[in-house]
Amino acid sequence: MTEFSRRVEQVSISGIREVFEAADEDAINLGLGQPDFPTPDHARRAAVEAIQAGEADAYTSNKGTPELRAAIADKHARDNDLDVDPEHIIATAGGSEALHIALESHVDNGQEVVIPDPGFVSYEALTHLAGGTPRPVPLREDLTLSPTAVEEAITDDTAAFVVNSPANPTGAVQSVDDMRAFARIADEHDVLCISDEVYEYQIFDGEHRSPMEFAASDNVVLVNACSKAHSMTGWRLGWTVAAHERTERMLRVHQYAQACASAPAQYAAEAALSGPQDHVAQMREAFRERRDVLLDGLADAGLPCPTPQGAFYAMPQVPEGWVDEVIDRGVVVVPGSAFGEHGAGSARISYATDVGTIKTAVEIIDAATAAVRS
Ligand SMILES: Cc1ncc(COP(=O)(O)O)c(C=O)c1O
Repeated sequence: MTEFSRRVEQVSISGIREVFEAADEDAINLGLGQPDFPTPDHARRAAVEAIQAGEADAYTSNKGTPELRAAIADKHARDNDLDVDPEHIIATAGGSEALHIALESHVDNGQEVVIPDPGFVSYEALTHLAGGTPRPVPLREDLTLSPTAVEEAITDDTAAFVVNSPANPTGAVQSVDDMRAFARIADEHDVLCISDEVYEYQIFDGEHRSPMEFAASDNVVLVNACSKAHSMTGWRLGWTVAAHERTERMLRVHQYAQACASAPAQYAAEAALSGPQDHVAQMREAFRERRDVLLDGLADAGLPCPTPQGAFYAMPQVPEGWVDEVIDRGVVVVPGSAFGEHGAGSARISYATDVGTIKTAVEIIDAATAAVRS
């Protein structure tokens, strides 16, 4: 067989997948990274109507339909106080492709990308695929990313740093001051800040602010998606917001890799973003209740865990052997080491499942913890 590229050989299938494969079929799955709610009806209907009317059969503009990009711009005006030109938006195949085109078009061979550790698995992998070198930065004790640590990690070789708030796998939310500091770092060091905001609406305490709001330069690429916000992971619809020059470069990658985001998904996303938003608050309140049930359970089991302020993950510190014991007893969780070297000694627990299931899982976790400690 012929050789493979060095870039692809640096990337392996996510550790999350390995855990799922090792688990029993009837296990309680607290490893999932997606909301367990249906896509809003008005979004589904918009896609069905577009399909039936024959409006979703052809390529759309590479950047996405004008109507979708207008809906995205309106969303940013409404929720983020950002004045976004629809021409500066590219609709992508989920937040995943948005991250890919952002890194691919800004990172040169051998350049560095500063990423949170533990952090979302794609940052490291996509940096490798772009030919770059990931520079993981350990988190603060409360699991937020320190702007000072990011600034100290920046060298002449740094192409970009990634901010993710609310964060996967920690559930941590950066303060407004932190977001302001990330914007200043992007400005002063003339380095790109990629701000991954896909969990923007799953925030329980505090508020979501984007570094884009504070940056004086054009050095921020904002990444967002309908996936978590509107429970649309299967639709594959995300987007980038960036200055004209950056958008034109990212469009080159997008055009050749993707052509355009799936047309039916674009219609669904337009409706999700511009229609009734009740589901957003309903999901947030459900996640808040589940978080509290899970945190009480972890406290009872004696597992230290910073209170997650957002997303739908908790990341407690766990004793040696804990993850295997919990999985053996039928609850799937993901070892923190799957998210970076500094995730070792912790585990990611997703609470994207109903309260009854979380209560059952917590009992199993309690018994597993006692067994590991005995
Ligand atoms: C932090 C973060 N960013 C981006 C994504 C990608 O989301 P999408 O399903 O829209 O590609 C995920 C998915 O888990 C995520 O957790």
